[in-house]
Amino acid sequence: MRIVMFGCPGAGKGTQAKVIATKTGAVHISTGDMLREAVAKETETGLKAKEYMSKGELVPDDVVVGIVKDKLINDNIKDFILDGFPRTIPQAKALDIMLSELNMPVEKVINLNIDHQVIVDRLCQRRVCLNCGETYHLVNHPPKVEGKCNACGADLIHRSDDQPEAINNRLDQYDKKTAPLIEFYKEQGKITDIDASGSIDEIRDNIMKTLGL
Ligand code: AP5
Repeated sequence: MRIVMFGCPGAGKGTQAKVIATKTGAVHISTGDMLREAVAKETETGLKAKEYMSKGELVPDDVVVGIVKDKLINDNIKDFILDGFPRTIPQAKALDIMLSELNMPVEKVINLNIDHQVIVDRLCQRRVCLNCGETYHLVNHPPKVEGKCNACGADLIHRSDDQPEAINNRLDQYDKKTAPLIEFYKEQGKITDIDASGSIDEIRDNIMKTLGL
């Protein structure tokens, strides 16, 4: 299984990718999570990425392509769900080259469709666990104990890019740089559109059907 989970910020890519990964054993690869970890650990990559991420701008292509390539090769990953990557045409072209060298092309791109208006509420109410990556929504998917992760008990945080100004910037970046990938993958015949405005369970069931699971 080699899938790209595609959609604008807050469309539910991470939420759904985690469910599919648990069900199938494919590895969930989130460039956002990897970059946030690098920022927290103050690695060279993290120091480069920090400034872009806090403003809601995209991290330069070469940095992101590098971390995905390292992950796939170093961990010898064969089945994966990419979440938040690729995000630009140059990233998608670099991914195609990388995967054709490894003889394992992307099979399907799941495009989670949703209005931008719904996104601002979802992201303002989101809380995340920096320790294990689990994601919550204060109303739709609250943690059992306020401020604590159900999975590992660590403190939950409100991401610095989940503030209205950064959210609007991320949506703007998506429209300009990421949305053109829909056409790119349509031309490859790999994209499936999924309505991402329903409940988390409804969306999961539709994705599972699309994947024949
Ligand atoms: P990243 O972490 O990838 O952020 P994003 O794409 O903006 O996506 P999000 O994590 O915000 O949303 P999501 O679609 O995963 O939604 P989620 O499932 O959490 O990237 C962050 C930053 O890193 C970028 O801005 C950039 O700077 C940098 N970066 C990362 N990758 C890069 C790349 N390839 N190139 C360059 N830069 C890169 O859901 C959102 C909320 O809604 C949650 O609270 C959830 O519980 C809730 N929710 C989910 N589904 C539903 C539903 N059906 N109904 C109600 N609530 C729901």
